[in-house]
Amino acid sequence: MRAFSATLFIAAASLSVSAANFDKRDVPYNPQVCVDDINTLSQQLIVIKTTVDAFEPSVGFEGAMEIHNEEKVFEHLLQQTYRGCCVDTPANIKEKDEAATIDAVGNYASHVAAALSAMGIKKPDFDVTPPANEHFRGHLADLTGMVNDLFSCIAFNTPEKSLPMIKGYNSTVTDAFAGANAIYAED
Ligand SMILES: *[C@@H]1O[C@H](CO)[C@@H](O)[C@H](O)[C@H]1NC(C)=O
Repeated sequence: MRAFSATLFIAAASLSVSAANFDKRDVPYNPQVCVDDINTLSQQLIVIKTTVDAFEPSVGFEGAMEIHNEEKVFEHLLQQTYRGCCVDTPANIKEKDEAATIDAVGNYASHVAAALSAMGIKKPDFDVTPPANEHFRGHLADLTGMVNDLFSCIAFNTPEKSLPMIKGYNSTVTDAFAGANAIYAED
């Protein structure tokens, strides 16, 4: 039964999208759409953190699967946010929209850090639930690239004077991923 569950988990757990599937839109930038999408990502990160915090090794694969499913939702929303925030032509955004974007990105960066920190804390519990550890290791690596791509798009549309803030949030997120990837690289 255990082996069967593991196989099922691996089969179901492959990543559904990759950064290569992302397409920029050739439409004018709508900052409100981008901000709303980033805020939706933050909401989903709260759900992920709650699910990770609640994980008990005794529940086994079902518990890992629940986290996996929430990650899938996150990936899907990330794709949506990429469509909402990534355009070919740089935007000429207003002060108000600029401030809203900075707020949303700052909030998102702290939720990314919180969710990844929760993943790091739970690593020993996933270690006793193979192949959850393997799966999350691969998944974190893939998400790193996608999350990075989104930051490039946000930076592309950020006026010069706010760029240092966006770069600061980008560092928060890349440091958090680097930390989680390092923890998951350990056996
Ligand atoms: C975000 O940080 C990563 C890692 O340092 C870097 O490669 C990337 O260019 C940065 N993105 C932006 C938009 O600053």
